[in-house]
Amino acid sequence: MPVTGDVPEHDHVVDTGKSELSLDELGHIQPGLARIMPEIGSRIWKCYYAGKAQNQPLARFQLKEAVNLMEMGAFVRPKYDENMHKFIAEDLEQVKQAIEASDWDKFETAFQNMVDQANSYHALYDKPWLRWKVPDEPPPDLDMTPLG
Ligand code: HEM
Repeated sequence: MPVTGDVPEHDHVVDTGKSELSLDELGHIQPGLARIMPEIGSRIWKCYYAGKAQNQPLARFQLKEAVNLMEMGAFVRPKYDENMHKFIAEDLEQVKQAIEASDWDKFETAFQNMVDQANSYHALYDKPWLRWKVPDEPPPDLDMTPLG
C-alpha cells in the first residue's frame, strides 16, 4: 500500500516479553565491533592452541567461528567490510591453508603474520594501542588434546 503524507508512518514493534522495542531501537542494541572483537580474540586464542596441539578439527572449527564473527562485524559495520574481507581472504587464509595441510610449521608463521596484520588494521582505524596478543596459556575451558 503506498504511504502518503497523511497516513501515519507505522513501525513494527517487537515484544520481547519484557519490553516493547521499535526496529530502530532493536537495531541500536545489535553488537558492534567493540562487542564482537573480544569474541573473535577468544576464538583466535583457541585456534592457536588447537594448532599447537596439532588438533586439526578443533583449529579449523575455531577459525571458522572467528570468520563468522568477522563477517557479522562487517555486516553491522559496513565501514569495515572491504578491509575485513581482505584480511579474511589474504592473512587469515594462510592460517586456514596451514590447518588444512596440517603444516604446523607454516601454521606458526602464518599465525604470527595474521596477528601482526590484525594489529595493523587496529592502527589503521586509529587505535594503534590495541595490540592483540595470544595469551601465554591455553584457554582453560577446552581440552586441546586431539581425539584418538
Ligand atoms: C586475528 C584477528 C583479530 C583479533 C584477534 C582482533 C582482536 C580485537 C580485540 C580483542 C579488540 C577489542 C579490544 C578491547 O576493547 O579490549 C579489537 C578491537 C577492534 N578491532 Fe580487532 N581483531 C582482529 C582483526 C581485526 C580486523 C581485521 C579489523 C578491521 C578490518 C579489526 C578492527 C577492530 C576495531 C575497529 C576495533 C575497535 C572496536 C571498538 O571498540 O570500537 N580487527 N580487536
